[in-house]
Amino acid sequence: MSTLKTDDQWLVPVLACSAAVIGVTYLIKSIFWPSYPANIPPFPEKPYPIIGHLPYLAKRQREKFQEWRKTTGDIYSLYFGSNLVIIINGYKLMKEAFVKNADLLSSRPPRPEVDDSHLGVTFANGPLWKEQRSISISILKSFGMGKASLANKINEEVSVYLDTLTALDGKPSDVSVLTSVSISNIICSIIVGKRFDYGDPFFISFLDCFKKMVRAAEATSPVMIWPWLRFIPGNFLNSKTRNICFQKVLTDFCDRFIELSEKQRNEDAPETFITSYLREMERLQKQGKETTLSKKSLRLLLLQLFLNGTDTTATTVMWFIAFMLQHPHIQKKMHDEISEIVGRDRMPDIQDRPKLPFSNAVIMETQRLGSIAAINMPRCTSGEVTIQGYTIPANTSVFPSMDSVLLDEDTWEEPHKFKPERFLDSNGHLTKPEAFIPFSFGEFSPLE
Ligand code: HEM
Repeated sequence: MSTLKTDDQWLVPVLACSAAVIGVTYLIKSIFWPSYPANIPPFPEKPYPIIGHLPYLAKRQREKFQEWRKTTGDIYSLYFGSNLVIIINGYKLMKEAFVKNADLLSSRPPRPEVDDSHLGVTFANGPLWKEQRSISISILKSFGMGKASLANKINEEVSVYLDTLTALDGKPSDVSVLTSVSISNIICSIIVGKRFDYGDPFFISFLDCFKKMVRAAEATSPVMIWPWLRFIPGNFLNSKTRNICFQKVLTDFCDRFIELSEKQRNEDAPETFITSYLREMERLQKQGKETTLSKKSLRLLLLQLFLNGTDTTATTVMWFIAFMLQHPHIQKKMHDEISEIVGRDRMPDIQDRPKLPFSNAVIMETQRLGSIAAINMPRCTSGEVTIQGYTIPANTSVFPSMDSVLLDEDTWEEPHKFKPERFLDSNGHLTKPEAFIPFSFGEFSPLE
Protein backbone atom coordinates (compact mmCIF):
# COMPACT_ATOMS: atom_id res chain seq x y z
CA MET A 1 0.00 0.00 0.00
CA SER A 2 1.48 3.41 -0.94
CA THR A 3 1.52 6.36 1.54
CA LEU A 4 1.86 10.11 0.90
CA LYS A 5 5.44 11.42 1.00
CA THR A 6 6.19 14.53 3.18
CA ASP A 7 6.42 16.73 -0.04
CA ASP A 8 2.92 15.59 -1.09
CA GLN A 9 1.15 16.38 2.18
CA TRP A 10 -0.34 19.62 0.82
CA LEU A 11 -2.56 17.26 -1.24
CA VAL A 12 -4.58 16.20 1.83
CA PRO A 13 -6.34 19.54 2.52
CA VAL A 14 -6.77 20.10 -1.24
CA LEU A 15 -8.49 16.71 -1.64
CA ALA A 16 -10.60 17.26 1.49
CA CYS A 17 -11.69 20.74 0.27
CA SER A 18 -12.48 19.39 -3.21
CA ALA A 19 -14.59 16.60 -1.71
CA ALA A 20 -16.43 19.12 0.49
CA VAL A 21 -17.07 21.45 -2.50
CA ILE A 22 -18.36 18.55 -4.63
CA GLY A 23 -20.58 17.36 -1.73
CA VAL A 24 -22.06 20.81 -1.05
CA THR A 25 -22.59 21.46 -4.81
CA TYR A 26 -24.38 18.13 -5.13
CA LEU A 27 -26.54 18.94 -2.11
CA ILE A 28 -27.43 22.43 -3.43
CA LYS A 29 -28.22 20.99 -6.87
CA SER A 30 -30.44 18.26 -5.48
CA ILE A 31 -32.24 20.79 -3.28
CA PHE A 32 -32.85 23.54 -5.86
CA TRP A 33 -32.66 21.69 -9.19
CA PRO A 34 -33.67 18.11 -8.40
CA SER A 35 -33.84 15.68 -11.31
CA TYR A 36 -36.47 12.97 -11.52
CA PRO A 37 -36.74 9.99 -13.87
CA ALA A 38 -38.28 10.96 -17.21
CA ASN A 39 -42.04 10.67 -17.82
CA ILE A 40 -43.01 9.38 -14.37
CA PRO A 41 -46.61 9.95 -13.20
CA PRO A 42 -47.23 13.48 -11.82
CA PHE A 43 -46.55 14.56 -8.24
CA PRO A 44 -49.64 15.75 -6.34
CA GLU A 45 -47.40 18.26 -4.50
CA LYS A 46 -43.77 19.24 -4.79
CA PRO A 47 -41.47 16.85 -2.88
CA TYR A 48 -39.17 18.33 -0.22
CA PRO A 49 -35.44 17.71 -0.69
CA ILE A 50 -34.21 14.53 1.08
CA ILE A 51 -37.51 13.79 2.88
CA GLY A 52 -39.75 13.92 -0.19
CA HIS A 53 -43.49 13.79 0.57
CA LEU A 54 -43.15 12.50 4.14
CA PRO A 55 -44.15 15.80 5.84
CA TYR A 56 -47.47 15.79 3.95
CA LEU A 57 -48.15 12.30 5.30
CA ALA A 58 -47.33 13.00 8.94
CA LYS A 59 -51.05 13.28 9.79
CA ARG A 60 -54.29 12.01 8.26
CA GLN A 61 -52.43 9.73 5.86
CA ARG A 62 -55.46 7.88 4.50
CA GLU A 63 -57.35 11.10 3.77
CA LYS A 64 -54.28 12.61 2.12
CA PHE A 65 -53.97 9.70 -0.34
CA GLN A 66 -57.62 10.11 -1.34
CA GLU A 67 -57.33 13.90 -1.55
CA TRP A 68 -54.36 13.50 -3.94
CA ARG A 69 -56.35 11.08 -6.09
CA LYS A 70 -58.97 13.82 -6.55
CA THR A 71 -56.43 16.52 -7.43
CA THR A 72 -53.96 14.44 -9.47
CA GLY A 73 -55.74 11.39 -10.89
CA ASP A 74 -55.65 7.62 -10.53
CA ILE A 75 -51.87 7.34 -10.77
CA TYR A 76 -49.36 9.59 -9.08
CA SER A 77 -45.76 9.61 -7.89
CA LEU A 78 -44.44 10.29 -4.41
CA TYR A 79 -41.03 10.32 -2.81
CA PHE A 80 -40.72 8.47 0.49
CA GLY A 81 -37.39 10.02 1.45
CA SER A 82 -35.37 9.64 -1.72
CA ASN A 83 -37.28 6.54 -2.89
CA LEU A 84 -39.70 7.00 -5.76
CA VAL A 85 -43.01 5.18 -5.18
CA ILE A 86 -46.11 5.03 -7.35
CA ILE A 87 -49.68 4.98 -6.01
CA ILE A 88 -52.35 3.25 -8.11
CA ASN A 89 -56.02 4.06 -7.52
CA GLY A 90 -59.36 2.72 -8.69
CA TYR A 91 -60.38 -0.80 -9.69
CA LYS A 92 -59.98 -0.27 -13.45
CA LEU A 93 -56.43 1.02 -13.28
CA MET A 94 -55.44 -1.54 -10.65
CA LYS A 95 -56.59 -4.29 -12.95
CA GLU A 96 -54.65 -2.78 -15.85
CA ALA A 97 -51.55 -2.47 -13.70
CA PHE A 98 -51.54 -5.74 -11.76
CA VAL A 99 -53.29 -8.14 -14.10
CA LYS A 100 -52.30 -6.87 -17.57
CA ASN A 101 -48.73 -6.14 -16.47
CA ALA A 102 -48.53 -9.03 -14.01
CA ASP A 103 -45.23 -10.28 -15.46
CA LEU A 104 -43.47 -7.00 -14.57
CA LEU A 105 -45.34 -6.27 -11.35
CA SER A 106 -45.20 -9.57 -9.53
CA SER A 107 -42.31 -9.11 -7.18
CA ARG A 108 -42.03 -7.61 -3.74
CA PRO A 109 -39.53 -4.88 -2.90
CA PRO A 110 -36.67 -5.88 -0.57
CA ARG A 111 -37.20 -5.31 3.18
CA PRO A 112 -33.68 -4.75 4.49
CA GLU A 113 -34.94 -3.46 7.85
CA VAL A 114 -35.54 -7.07 8.94
CA ASP A 115 -33.02 -9.95 8.75
CA ASP A 116 -34.00 -12.87 6.48
CA SER A 117 -37.24 -11.19 5.34
CA HIS A 118 -36.66 -12.55 1.80
CA LEU A 119 -37.47 -16.06 3.08
CA GLY A 120 -41.01 -17.29 3.85
CA VAL A 121 -43.72 -15.97 1.57
CA THR A 122 -44.76 -12.37 2.18
CA PHE A 123 -41.59 -10.67 0.99
CA ALA A 124 -40.08 -13.52 -0.96
CA ASN A 125 -39.67 -13.50 -4.73
CA GLY A 126 -39.20 -15.86 -7.66
CA PRO A 127 -39.05 -19.67 -7.26
CA LEU A 128 -38.70 -19.44 -3.46
CA TRP A 129 -41.96 -17.47 -3.14
CA LYS A 130 -43.73 -19.79 -5.58
CA GLU A 131 -42.73 -22.97 -3.76
CA GLN A 132 -43.36 -21.63 -0.23
CA ARG A 133 -46.77 -20.30 -1.29
CA SER A 134 -47.81 -23.51 -3.00
CA ILE A 135 -46.71 -25.77 -0.11
CA SER A 136 -48.52 -23.47 2.37
CA ILE A 137 -51.75 -23.64 0.36
CA SER A 138 -51.58 -27.40 -0.03
CA ILE A 139 -50.87 -27.99 3.70
CA LEU A 140 -53.59 -25.55 4.79
CA LYS A 141 -56.03 -27.30 2.46
CA SER A 142 -55.10 -30.65 3.94
CA PHE A 143 -56.09 -29.19 7.32
CA GLY A 144 -59.51 -28.32 5.93
CA MET A 145 -59.12 -24.67 4.85
CA GLY A 146 -62.50 -23.72 3.36
CA LYS A 147 -64.05 -27.04 4.43
CA ALA A 148 -66.32 -28.27 7.22
CA SER A 149 -63.46 -29.89 9.18
CA LEU A 150 -61.75 -26.53 9.81
CA ALA A 151 -65.11 -24.79 10.28
CA ASN A 152 -65.80 -27.15 13.22
CA LYS A 153 -62.50 -26.23 14.80
CA ILE A 154 -63.38 -22.55 14.34
CA ASN A 155 -66.76 -23.12 15.99
CA GLU A 156 -65.08 -24.71 19.03
CA GLU A 157 -62.95 -21.58 19.46
CA VAL A 158 -65.97 -19.32 18.86
CA SER A 159 -67.80 -21.09 21.73
CA VAL A 160 -64.95 -20.32 24.13
CA TYR A 161 -64.86 -16.70 22.85
CA LEU A 162 -68.62 -16.27 23.33
CA ASP A 163 -68.52 -17.81 26.82
CA THR A 164 -65.77 -15.34 27.76
CA LEU A 165 -67.78 -12.41 26.37
CA THR A 166 -70.88 -13.61 28.24
CA ALA A 167 -68.89 -13.80 31.48
CA LEU A 168 -68.10 -10.07 31.13
CA ASP A 169 -71.77 -9.61 31.98
CA GLY A 170 -72.25 -6.44 29.91
CA LYS A 171 -69.40 -4.58 31.69
CA PRO A 172 -67.60 -2.16 29.34
CA SER A 173 -64.39 -3.97 28.34
CA ASP A 174 -61.67 -3.76 25.72
CA VAL A 175 -62.14 -7.03 23.87
CA SER A 176 -59.37 -6.50 21.32
CA VAL A 177 -56.76 -8.73 23.04
CA LEU A 178 -59.33 -11.43 23.66
CA THR A 179 -60.32 -11.26 19.99
CA SER A 180 -56.72 -11.46 18.76
CA VAL A 181 -55.89 -14.45 20.97
CA SER A 182 -59.04 -16.21 19.85
CA ILE A 183 -58.29 -15.68 16.13
CA SER A 184 -54.68 -16.60 16.60
CA ASN A 185 -55.69 -19.80 18.40
CA ILE A 186 -57.31 -21.06 15.22
CA ILE A 187 -54.10 -20.47 13.27
CA CYS A 188 -52.08 -21.97 16.17
CA SER A 189 -54.18 -25.10 16.29
CA ILE A 190 -53.23 -25.80 12.67
CA ILE A 191 -49.65 -24.65 12.79
CA VAL A 192 -48.42 -25.89 16.15
CA GLY A 193 -51.33 -28.11 17.20
CA LYS A 194 -52.10 -26.11 20.34
CA ARG A 195 -54.42 -23.35 21.57
CA PHE A 196 -53.57 -20.84 24.32
CA ASP A 197 -55.65 -19.56 27.24
CA TYR A 198 -56.88 -16.01 26.73
CA GLY A 199 -54.82 -14.73 29.67
CA ASP A 200 -51.61 -16.64 28.81
CA PRO A 201 -48.80 -14.05 29.34
CA PHE A 202 -46.40 -15.95 27.01
CA PHE A 203 -48.85 -15.71 24.13
CA ILE A 204 -50.05 -12.18 24.89
CA SER A 205 -46.44 -10.97 24.70
CA PHE A 206 -46.25 -12.33 21.12
CA LEU A 207 -49.46 -10.62 20.13
CA ASP A 208 -48.06 -7.41 21.52
CA CYS A 209 -44.99 -7.98 19.34
CA PHE A 210 -47.24 -8.49 16.28
CA LYS A 211 -48.95 -5.17 16.93
CA LYS A 212 -45.61 -3.37 17.22
CA MET A 213 -44.37 -5.07 14.03
CA VAL A 214 -47.44 -4.04 12.06
CA ARG A 215 -47.15 -0.45 13.27
CA ALA A 216 -43.41 -0.30 12.52
CA ALA A 217 -44.01 -1.72 9.02
CA GLU A 218 -45.82 1.37 7.75
CA ALA A 219 -44.30 2.31 4.42
CA THR A 220 -43.63 5.83 5.67
CA SER A 221 -41.94 4.88 8.95
CA PRO A 222 -38.30 6.16 9.04
CA VAL A 223 -36.61 2.74 9.16
CA MET A 224 -38.52 1.55 6.09
CA ILE A 225 -37.08 4.47 4.14
CA TRP A 226 -33.62 4.62 5.67
CA PRO A 227 -32.90 1.02 6.78
CA TRP A 228 -29.39 2.03 7.94
CA LEU A 229 -31.04 3.84 10.89
CA ARG A 230 -31.16 0.54 12.72
CA PHE A 231 -27.37 0.43 12.93
CA ILE A 232 -27.30 3.66 15.00
CA PRO A 233 -26.83 2.85 18.73
CA GLY A 234 -30.04 2.85 20.77
CA ASN A 235 -33.47 2.53 19.24
CA PHE A 236 -33.36 5.82 17.30
CA LEU A 237 -36.81 6.64 15.83
CA ASN A 238 -37.98 3.11 16.74
CA SER A 239 -35.67 1.83 14.04
CA LYS A 240 -34.89 -1.45 15.81
CA THR A 241 -38.39 -2.24 17.09
CA ARG A 242 -39.47 -4.27 14.09
CA ASN A 243 -36.35 -6.39 13.93
CA ILE A 244 -36.26 -6.94 17.72
CA CYS A 245 -39.90 -8.14 17.71
CA PHE A 246 -39.31 -10.20 14.58
CA GLN A 247 -36.33 -12.01 16.15
CA LYS A 248 -38.20 -12.55 19.44
CA VAL A 249 -41.11 -14.27 17.70
CA LEU A 250 -38.76 -16.28 15.48
CA THR A 251 -36.61 -17.52 18.36
CA ASP A 252 -39.06 -17.88 21.25
CA PHE A 253 -42.04 -19.10 19.27
CA CYS A 254 -41.25 -20.46 15.79
CA ASP A 255 -37.94 -22.15 16.68
CA ARG A 256 -39.38 -23.51 19.92
CA PHE A 257 -42.31 -25.16 18.17
CA ILE A 258 -40.20 -26.47 15.28
CA GLU A 259 -37.88 -28.07 17.84
CA LEU A 260 -40.80 -29.51 19.81
CA SER A 261 -42.37 -30.94 16.65
CA GLU A 262 -39.09 -32.58 15.70
CA LYS A 263 -38.78 -34.18 19.15
CA GLN A 264 -42.34 -35.48 19.08
CA ARG A 265 -42.32 -36.79 15.54
CA ASN A 266 -41.92 -40.41 16.43
CA GLU A 267 -44.47 -40.24 19.21
CA ASP A 268 -48.18 -40.15 18.55
CA ALA A 269 -48.30 -36.35 18.38
CA PRO A 270 -50.96 -34.84 16.11
CA GLU A 271 -50.03 -33.77 12.58
CA THR A 272 -49.39 -30.01 12.31
CA PHE A 273 -48.37 -27.54 9.60
CA ILE A 274 -44.79 -27.90 10.89
CA THR A 275 -44.67 -31.70 10.68
CA SER A 276 -46.26 -31.68 7.20
CA TYR A 277 -43.74 -29.10 5.96
CA LEU A 278 -40.75 -30.98 7.42
CA ARG A 279 -41.94 -34.26 5.92
CA GLU A 280 -42.29 -32.71 2.45
CA MET A 281 -38.87 -31.07 2.80
CA GLU A 282 -37.24 -34.41 3.66
CA ARG A 283 -39.10 -36.21 0.87
CA LEU A 284 -37.80 -33.76 -1.73
CA GLN A 285 -34.28 -33.84 -0.28
CA LYS A 286 -34.23 -37.66 -0.25
CA GLN A 287 -35.27 -37.71 -3.89
CA GLY A 288 -32.40 -35.32 -4.64
CA LYS A 289 -34.83 -32.69 -5.98
CA GLU A 290 -33.93 -29.04 -5.91
CA THR A 291 -36.10 -27.32 -3.30
CA THR A 292 -36.34 -24.05 -1.40
CA LEU A 293 -38.00 -25.80 1.56
CA SER A 294 -35.74 -25.40 4.59
CA LYS A 295 -36.02 -24.92 8.35
CA LYS A 296 -34.89 -21.31 7.87
CA SER A 297 -37.79 -20.66 5.50
CA LEU A 298 -40.24 -22.57 7.69
CA ARG A 299 -39.61 -20.28 10.70
CA LEU A 300 -40.30 -17.21 8.53
CA LEU A 301 -43.37 -18.84 7.03
CA LEU A 302 -44.81 -19.58 10.49
CA LEU A 303 -44.23 -16.00 11.60
CA GLN A 304 -45.85 -14.61 8.46
CA LEU A 305 -48.90 -16.87 8.70
CA PHE A 306 -49.42 -15.66 12.27
CA LEU A 307 -48.74 -12.05 11.40
CA ASN A 308 -50.85 -11.91 8.23
CA GLY A 309 -53.65 -14.03 9.60
CA THR A 310 -54.09 -12.61 13.10
CA ASP A 311 -54.16 -8.84 12.75
CA THR A 312 -56.25 -8.81 9.56
CA THR A 313 -58.96 -11.13 10.87
CA ALA A 314 -59.02 -9.66 14.40
CA THR A 315 -59.32 -6.11 13.04
CA THR A 316 -62.20 -7.23 10.81
CA VAL A 317 -63.99 -8.78 13.81
CA MET A 318 -63.44 -5.57 15.80
CA TRP A 319 -64.99 -3.55 12.95
CA PHE A 320 -67.91 -5.97 12.89
CA ILE A 321 -68.50 -5.41 16.63
CA ALA A 322 -68.28 -1.62 16.16
CA PHE A 323 -70.69 -1.60 13.20
CA MET A 324 -73.18 -3.80 15.06
CA LEU A 325 -73.09 -1.46 18.07
CA GLN A 326 -73.67 1.51 15.75
CA HIS A 327 -76.50 -0.19 13.83
CA PRO A 328 -78.60 -2.24 16.27
CA HIS A 329 -81.40 -2.70 13.68
CA ILE A 330 -78.93 -4.44 11.33
CA GLN A 331 -77.69 -6.58 14.21
CA LYS A 332 -81.28 -7.61 14.94
CA LYS A 333 -82.01 -8.41 11.28
CA MET A 334 -78.93 -10.63 11.08
CA HIS A 335 -79.83 -12.31 14.37
CA ASP A 336 -83.39 -12.95 13.11
CA GLU A 337 -82.08 -14.49 9.88
CA ILE A 338 -79.76 -16.86 11.78
CA SER A 339 -82.51 -17.78 14.28
CA GLU A 340 -84.94 -18.54 11.46
CA ILE A 341 -82.61 -20.57 9.23
CA VAL A 342 -80.28 -22.23 11.74
CA GLY A 343 -82.45 -22.20 14.84
CA ARG A 344 -81.27 -21.51 18.37
CA ASP A 345 -80.03 -24.97 19.35
CA ARG A 346 -76.77 -25.08 17.43
CA MET A 347 -74.06 -22.83 15.98
CA PRO A 348 -74.23 -21.81 12.30
CA ASP A 349 -71.81 -23.91 10.23
CA ILE A 350 -70.21 -23.61 6.82
CA GLN A 351 -73.08 -25.45 5.08
CA ASP A 352 -75.52 -22.79 6.32
CA ARG A 353 -73.58 -20.04 4.63
CA PRO A 354 -75.39 -19.98 1.27
CA LYS A 355 -78.74 -19.89 3.11
CA LEU A 356 -77.85 -16.69 5.00
CA PRO A 357 -77.64 -13.94 2.36
CA PHE A 358 -78.23 -11.03 4.73
CA SER A 359 -75.60 -12.24 7.22
CA ASN A 360 -73.12 -12.70 4.35
CA ALA A 361 -73.92 -9.18 3.13
CA VAL A 362 -73.24 -7.77 6.62
CA ILE A 363 -69.81 -9.47 6.68
CA MET A 364 -68.99 -8.22 3.17
CA GLU A 365 -70.05 -4.67 4.06
CA THR A 366 -67.85 -4.88 7.19
CA GLN A 367 -64.89 -5.83 4.99
CA ARG A 368 -65.65 -3.10 2.47
CA LEU A 369 -66.19 -0.20 4.86
CA GLY A 370 -63.53 -1.43 7.33
CA SER A 371 -61.05 -1.43 4.40
CA ILE A 372 -58.37 -2.75 6.71
CA ALA A 373 -55.51 -2.77 4.21
CA ALA A 374 -56.03 0.90 3.22
CA ILE A 375 -52.77 0.98 1.28
CA ASN A 376 -51.93 -2.57 0.33
CA MET A 377 -48.55 -4.29 0.47
CA PRO A 378 -46.29 -2.92 -2.26
CA ARG A 379 -45.25 -4.69 -5.44
CA CYS A 380 -42.00 -3.88 -7.19
CA THR A 381 -41.37 -3.40 -10.91
CA SER A 382 -38.94 -6.00 -12.26
CA GLY A 383 -38.41 -3.93 -15.45
CA GLU A 384 -39.60 -0.63 -16.90
CA VAL A 385 -43.43 -0.57 -17.09
CA THR A 386 -45.73 1.77 -19.02
CA ILE A 387 -49.06 2.51 -17.37
CA GLN A 388 -51.44 5.11 -18.80
CA GLY A 389 -48.60 6.45 -20.95
CA TYR A 390 -46.33 7.06 -17.94
CA THR A 391 -43.00 5.29 -17.51
CA ILE A 392 -42.33 3.57 -14.23
CA PRO A 393 -38.65 2.70 -13.83
CA ALA A 394 -37.43 -0.78 -12.86
CA ASN A 395 -37.16 -1.51 -9.12
CA THR A 396 -39.83 1.01 -8.12
CA SER A 397 -42.35 0.21 -5.38
CA VAL A 398 -45.96 0.38 -6.52
CA PHE A 399 -48.70 0.64 -3.89
CA PRO A 400 -52.31 -0.30 -4.69
CA SER A 401 -54.74 1.91 -2.73
CA MET A 402 -57.47 -0.40 -1.47
CA ASP A 403 -59.42 2.57 -0.05
CA SER A 404 -59.70 3.95 -3.59
CA VAL A 405 -61.53 0.76 -4.63
CA LEU A 406 -63.52 -0.20 -1.54
CA LEU A 407 -64.61 3.37 -0.72
CA ASP A 408 -64.86 4.65 -4.30
CA GLU A 409 -67.64 7.21 -4.81
CA ASP A 410 -68.13 6.17 -8.46
CA THR A 411 -68.59 2.49 -7.57
CA TRP A 412 -70.56 2.52 -4.32
CA GLU A 413 -73.56 4.67 -3.49
CA GLU A 414 -72.84 6.57 -0.25
CA PRO A 415 -69.56 4.65 0.21
CA HIS A 416 -68.99 5.85 3.77
CA LYS A 417 -72.29 4.47 5.05
CA PHE A 418 -72.80 0.94 6.39
CA LYS A 419 -75.39 -0.52 3.99
CA PRO A 420 -75.29 -4.34 3.68
CA GLU A 421 -78.24 -4.22 1.21
CA ARG A 422 -75.80 -3.07 -1.47
CA PHE A 423 -74.72 -6.73 -1.70
CA LEU A 424 -78.28 -8.02 -2.24
CA ASP A 425 -80.27 -7.96 -5.47
CA SER A 426 -84.00 -7.16 -5.72
CA ASN A 427 -84.80 -10.81 -4.84
CA GLY A 428 -82.67 -10.72 -1.71
CA HIS A 429 -79.93 -12.87 -3.32
CA LEU A 430 -76.31 -12.17 -2.56
CA THR A 431 -74.34 -10.36 -5.29
CA LYS A 432 -70.59 -9.79 -5.42
CA PRO A 433 -69.61 -6.69 -7.39
CA GLU A 434 -66.31 -6.98 -9.27
CA ALA A 435 -64.80 -4.16 -7.22
CA PHE A 436 -65.32 -6.00 -3.94
CA ILE A 437 -61.68 -6.98 -3.40
CA PRO A 438 -60.92 -6.84 0.36
CA PHE A 439 -58.26 -9.53 -0.15
CA SER A 440 -56.80 -7.68 -3.14
CA PHE A 441 -56.35 -9.69 -6.32
CA GLY A 442 -53.76 -11.14 -8.65
CA GLU A 443 -50.95 -13.47 -7.78
CA PHE A 444 -50.43 -12.30 -4.20
CA SER A 445 -53.98 -12.50 -2.91
CA PRO A 446 -54.17 -14.33 0.43
CA LEU A 447 -53.72 -18.06 0.51
CA GLU A 448 -56.84 -19.84 -0.76
C1 HEM B 1 -60.02 -10.72 6.97
C2 HEM B 1 -58.91 -11.39 6.80
C3 HEM B 1 -57.81 -11.07 5.82
C4 HEM B 1 -57.64 -10.00 4.97
C5 HEM B 1 -58.57 -8.80 4.75
C6 HEM B 1 -56.40 -10.22 4.25
C7 HEM B 1 -55.87 -9.37 3.29
C8 HEM B 1 -54.70 -9.58 2.62
C9 HEM B 1 -54.16 -8.70 1.60
C10 HEM B 1 -54.83 -7.42 1.11
C11 HEM B 1 -52.97 -9.24 1.17
C12 HEM B 1 -52.00 -8.65 0.15
C13 HEM B 1 -52.29 -9.14 -1.22
C14 HEM B 1 -51.50 -8.36 -2.27
O1 HEM B 1 -50.31 -8.06 -2.06
O2 HEM B 1 -52.09 -8.02 -3.28
C15 HEM B 1 -52.75 -10.46 1.92
C16 HEM B 1 -51.66 -11.30 1.75
C17 HEM B 1 -51.46 -12.44 2.49
N1 HEM B 1 -52.30 -12.98 3.44
FE1 HEM B 1 -54.07 -12.21 4.05
N2 HEM B 1 -55.83 -11.40 4.69
C18 HEM B 1 -56.66 -11.95 5.64
C19 HEM B 1 -56.47 -13.14 6.33
C20 HEM B 1 -55.39 -13.97 6.19
C21 HEM B 1 -55.21 -15.23 6.90
C22 HEM B 1 -56.19 -15.81 7.93
C23 HEM B 1 -54.00 -15.74 6.49
C24 HEM B 1 -53.29 -17.03 6.89
C25 HEM B 1 -53.45 -17.72 7.94
C26 HEM B 1 -53.44 -14.81 5.53
C27 HEM B 1 -52.22 -14.98 4.90
C28 HEM B 1 -51.72 -14.14 3.93
C29 HEM B 1 -50.44 -14.33 3.28
C30 HEM B 1 -49.45 -15.47 3.56
C31 HEM B 1 -50.27 -13.28 2.37
C32 HEM B 1 -49.09 -13.05 1.44
C33 HEM B 1 -49.39 -13.75 0.14
C34 HEM B 1 -48.25 -13.65 -0.87
O3 HEM B 1 -47.43 -12.72 -0.78
O4 HEM B 1 -48.18 -14.53 -1.74
N3 HEM B 1 -54.31 -13.75 5.36
N4 HEM B 1 -53.81 -10.65 2.79
